[in-house]
Amino acid sequence: MCAFSLRPALPDDLDALTALEQRCFSSDRLSRRSFRKWLKRQHTGLIVALDEQQQLAGYALVLLQPGTRLARLYSIAVDPQQRGKKLGEHLLEAAEDYAHQQRRLFLRLEVRRDNTAAIA
Ligand SMILES: CC(C)(COP(=O)(O)OP(=O)(O)OC[C@H]1O[C@@H](n2cnc3c(N)ncnc32)[C@H](O)[C@@H]1OP(=O)(O)O)[C@@H](O)C(=O)NCCC(=O)NCCS
Repeated sequence: MCAFSLRPALPDDLDALTALEQRCFSSDRLSRRSFRKWLKRQHTGLIVALDEQQQLAGYALVLLQPGTRLARLYSIAVDPQQRGKKLGEHLLEAAEDYAHQQRRLFLRLEVRRDNTAAIA
């Protein structure tokens, strides 16, 4: 069973999302402004995971384009303290569910070649 609860992101998550991004990436981080934009944008699935203390533990961001059955997993991240607990897998499943509900058939993630954790 997953020890984390998943739900769509809310405007109140902005601070925690921005802080999590700092902890998870050393470059190419999404800015607070970007997260705010994705929160407002239609055709976007921003899913957050909370731990038992209701702290943000991870997120997945899915972007859709009209006219294509391909969805893009634009970003996925799990707090370094929470890695290795299958939360990445749960977020990926939630991202797939979202894309499927939106009638997309494929989900693509672009990653660096050396990002073995994300590729796995
Ligand atoms: C990629 C990431 C989200 C994985 O999150 P996670 O919660 O630790 O992953 P899980 O516990 O769900 O792992 C699922 C499987 O992925 C693989 N995996 C996870 N971390 C791995 C690592 N460091 N090295 C190799 N394989 C790994 C394993 O096969 C694992 O299954 P197993 O535990 O049965 O062996 C996390 O490492 C992360 O946030 N990385 C930084 C952000 C990033 O690079 N995002 C992708 C680009 S946008």
